[in-house]
Amino acid sequence: MRYARISPALPPVSTISLGSWNTFSRCTPAELQALLARAFDRGVNLLDIGYYWDKPDTEEAVAAALGALGVSRDRYLVAQKLWLWDYPQESFRGQLGRSLIKLGHDHVDVVMVSRPAAGIALEAMCGEVVALVEAGMARAWGVTNFSAEQAHAALALCDAKGWPRPAMLQMQYNVMRRGVVEGADHAALFASGAIGLCAAHTLEGGILAGHLDRDRVDPPAFAEGTRPIERNIARDSGGIREEIRARQPRLAALAARLGATPAQLALAFVLEHPALSTALIGVTRVDQLDENIDAAQFVPRLDEVREELAALAIAGVGHPKLFNPHNDI
Ligand SMILES: NC(=O)c1ccc[n+]([C@@H]2O[C@H](COP(=O)([O-])OP(=O)(O)OC[C@H]3O[C@@H](n4cnc5c(N)ncnc54)[C@H](OP(=O)(O)O)[C@@H]3O)[C@@H](O)[C@H]2O)c1
Repeated sequence: MRYARISPALPPVSTISLGSWNTFSRCTPAELQALLARAFDRGVNLLDIGYYWDKPDTEEAVAAALGALGVSRDRYLVAQKLWLWDYPQESFRGQLGRSLIKLGHDHVDVVMVSRPAAGIALEAMCGEVVALVEAGMARAWGVTNFSAEQAHAALALCDAKGWPRPAMLQMQYNVMRRGVVEGADHAALFASGAIGLCAAHTLEGGILAGHLDRDRVDPPAFAEGTRPIERNIARDSGGIREEIRARQPRLAALAARLGATPAQLALAFVLEHPALSTALIGVTRVDQLDENIDAAQFVPRLDEVREELAALAIAGVGHPKLFNPHNDI
């Protein structure tokens, strides 16, 4: 396992880390314990956790598994999401405090705050997040789905005010969904070295690994009882998902040429990003975890399939729309 330093306040983080949305909640307690135990054994030290609108018991499931394993708190780091669904009516302190109670922890390691909607003052919002760090409820902070302009503005604010800089920027990024991260604005941001990339949705929710039937179920349909096939996945920003499904067999064929699985080739691509802080993987089984961690061995072989991989990138990727399950538009 490789590690990246993302903040002076934290030990280096594993470049592969575990997401939890629609994965941990689909495991039995015994399966989740086995998954976490194996992840720690393989050197994963970061868990990306959150309160999820369609899987609201995830934090409790993580807390129970960690408790049953008896893992000491300094063995792992927690990245905790902060949503703006009820912000500013609900304070970040209130939101994080609730999650800490559910986790049974007195702090998280990184709070990851979502992109603000128009009309929310960036300075006040970032100031509230930094206050959580100053209060010891989090050791560092990061940002999710920020535009490059918002990320630059947040970094400039930190420098002007003497605040700790955000430790990483989480963005959806995979071998077919590259456009935003590799677009001029984000590419320049990451190339500047000012902030690292936390890559999410690295297998397009599993589609790249061959789960071709799964798709997004939005909150209104979910509320009316529609359930996703296998699991829910992120919204399809830019409307490229059908094309992703159509090109998945090409990814699988390329992977076979290297003796890799499609998941491994897709992850090797992400692991090669020069500004990578960590790549989130969503897994429900120990064998998937092992397979995905072993993807690192294919990074040095990407040159063998470079041209074909480039041809898998799909044009038209959109920046993720603002998400609020209370007001889904
Ligand atoms: N910032 C954003 O906009 C954004 C968007 C999406 C996700 N995220 C974050 O990123 C984290 C990970 O996202 P994600 O769950 O969408 O991750 P993902 O890695 O794209 O997809 C995970 C799914 O792929 C399948 N999978 C994984 N390894 C496999 C393998 N080796 N073989 C076959 N199938 C495999 C699993 O399916 P099964 O579970 O059915 O086995 C798993 O549920 C989430 O927890 C979330 O917090 C952020």
